Amino acid sequence: RLPEPFTVPLPIPPVLRPSSAGVYEITQRVGQAEILPGLRTQVWGYNGIFPGPTIVSRRGHKTVVRHRNELPEPVVVHLHGGRTPAEHDGYPTDLVSPGSVHEYVYPLDQPAATLWYHDHRMDHTGPQVYKGLAGFHLVHDDEEEALPLPKGERDVPLMIADRSFAEDGSMIYPDVHSDFISGVLGDCVLVNGAPWPVMEVTAARYRFRLLNASNARRYRLALDPPPPGGASFIQIGSDLGLLGAPVAHPGLQIAQAERFDVVVDFSGYPVGQEVTLTNRLGQDGTANVMRFVVARKAPDDSRVPGKLTDFRPLSPSEAVAERTFTFQRGGAERHGTSLWTVNGRAFSPDHIAATPRLGTVERWTLRAQNVAHPIHIHLTPFQVLDPGPYATGWKDTVDLASGDQVEVLVRFDSYRGKYVFHCHNLEHEDMMMMANFRII
Ligand code: C2O
Ligand code: CU
Repeated sequence: RLPEPFTVPLPIPPVLRPSSAGVYEITQRVGQAEILPGLRTQVWGYNGIFPGPTIVSRRGHKTVVRHRNELPEPVVVHLHGGRTPAEHDGYPTDLVSPGSVHEYVYPLDQPAATLWYHDHRMDHTGPQVYKGLAGFHLVHDDEEEALPLPKGERDVPLMIADRSFAEDGSMIYPDVHSDFISGVLGDCVLVNGAPWPVMEVTAARYRFRLLNASNARRYRLALDPPPPGGASFIQIGSDLGLLGAPVAHPGLQIAQAERFDVVVDFSGYPVGQEVTLTNRLGQDGTANVMRFVVARKAPDDSRVPGKLTDFRPLSPSEAVAERTFTFQRGGAERHGTSLWTVNGRAFSPDHIAATPRLGTVERWTLRAQNVAHPIHIHLTPFQVLDPGPYATGWKDTVDLASGDQVEVLVRFDSYRGKYVFHCHNLEHEDMMMMANFRII
């Protein structure tokens, strides 16, 4: 049923073209995908495909996406990492019912970055994303384009997501509403919707936009063998755009919803070399992600400059308020099962956990109990104090190990309104590990 690893070619999601009026049209519908060779898998897809089409925008150019819902259930679309007014942010109860159309307007007044869009329906995000409702939304700007980074065919988005399949090829998602669940894991790793795919590369530099779109799995990625004389990955960007300067990583740990923008230099490998992208946190099938095969030599005038952008670290002295949020199990129940909560409280659209002021910076202490939790704050970029190897730059999601405490400086600089922050383990999120803040 599952293919031999590294036999299916890596697909690249198609780039969506706007209609003549400059509007991007997406129909959410049931589609049939051939994920496992020779079998049909029903997906819920943006335009019927998984991943959805990639939307490409320019900084400061308003992008309008008109979603038509032809699925049997309500949906909500959230642009993850988008600096978006509250009414277009995809609040979990702002449902688009079956048969209806909703227009989301994104100002995208923000630096070049790898964003993604996905379903955000209250209590149902886990199953709806699992069925396929996720896609890339890239933002470009002049500053990034002036850099000599790999471009065109050598700038590749990679959406990593694990799934389980039944004998007939259908995806298996357990009933999370009957049993307590700590997160849905698959035994098959998909990249851009293909199981353990293979990609032919030239012996040159490539830019990969790594996104972990898995519901509950985190990965520690490395190249095997590593590039001769170099680190596996040169990180150039984080969740929300370019780093000040590149960072070399022998391996990268990526939690759900995080993005790492990296450059890999294949020029030191001999032609014919197979290079496997491995996951050191996985076992058996999940220990591998995909493979690159160095097919030929080619000229390459790209490079990674020592300075990428002006990055100003926020200082704790700028913070005008401090708040603490503990992500834990318990404090609230549903049908007799204890839920995942924030400060002991289950998500309710009516309860506001914080009211930061527009134009200020706050210091938030995030704590994880019981298990690890990747915490995502909508709208507002933040910086992690003491970021360790994996959390430098502007972030919208930070991974907390069990028992961890992380301090972040959050900059409330764009819009007023009510937004959510939550765990991006999608089953934790559906089981109420979410809260509201209102910018006043
Ligand atoms: Cu990636 Cu609240 O979402
Ligand atoms: Cu969690």
